[in-house]
Amino acid sequence: PPFWVVIPAAGVGSRMRADRPKQYLELGGQTILEHTLDRFLDHPQLQGLVVSLAEQDPYWPELQCAADPRICRATGGSERADSVLAGLQVLSGLGANEEDWVLVHDAARPNLALDDLNRLLATLADDPVGGLLAVPARDTLKRAGADGRVQETVDRSVIWQAFTPQMFRLGSLRAALMDALTSGVAVTDEASALEWAGHHPRLIEGRADNLKITRPEDLTWLQQRWQS
Ligand code: CTP
Ligand code: MG
Repeated sequence: PPFWVVIPAAGVGSRMRADRPKQYLELGGQTILEHTLDRFLDHPQLQGLVVSLAEQDPYWPELQCAADPRICRATGGSERADSVLAGLQVLSGLGANEEDWVLVHDAARPNLALDDLNRLLATLADDPVGGLLAVPARDTLKRAGADGRVQETVDRSVIWQAFTPQMFRLGSLRAALMDALTSGVAVTDEASALEWAGHHPRLIEGRADNLKITRPEDLTWLQQRWQS
């Protein structure tokens, strides 16, 4: 199906402890953000793409893609949900309809495979709610007590890690994010806002190497794979 994209890229990357936000760190000759954008820009079903940037962002104008007419900009906010909402606003201005599909994908997740993206789109094309790429838990999981000791082993077979892209309809995504923000509930991804609104997003198994760069060792891992 045709789809729109929002790339939230307004975070500071505090856990990365680098000299700049992690989306502007280099990976194989390009910034992480440029790799992420490349995963979408040539897709035949792409209707439009918005990147949400921090209000003060000295790094974006230095990128070659800053002049790319296919990329629109929004000003992100203090929470990820604010950044995504700002992106949705710009999409509406571009002519996106309330029923249109929007994919939200982390700027810091540069290794999305085209077959994962296409499977997400194909699986959800007629879905009433939408869903997300996710990976089943691999390790044995423990619930910890305050004393740092195991209280119990959790049933791994029902636990998934939520990845992106996350794919929802523009109108319901906006409404869910706004409700979640005004209610003060923590939404660390788009699906959790939809869940708060009572929906059950579909989990679509994706590749584990579509990882989000969060800590320095994540970038080291990806740099090693990139070369081989
Ligand atoms: N993001 C955003 N606006 C925010 C916070 C996060 O657009 N207010 C984006 C980040 O740029 C990133 C994605 O959301 O691409 C996932 O967030 P995360 O991995 O938490 O990135 P940061 O918030 O930048 O990192 P940290 O939490 O370590 O500070
Ligand atoms: Mg964060």
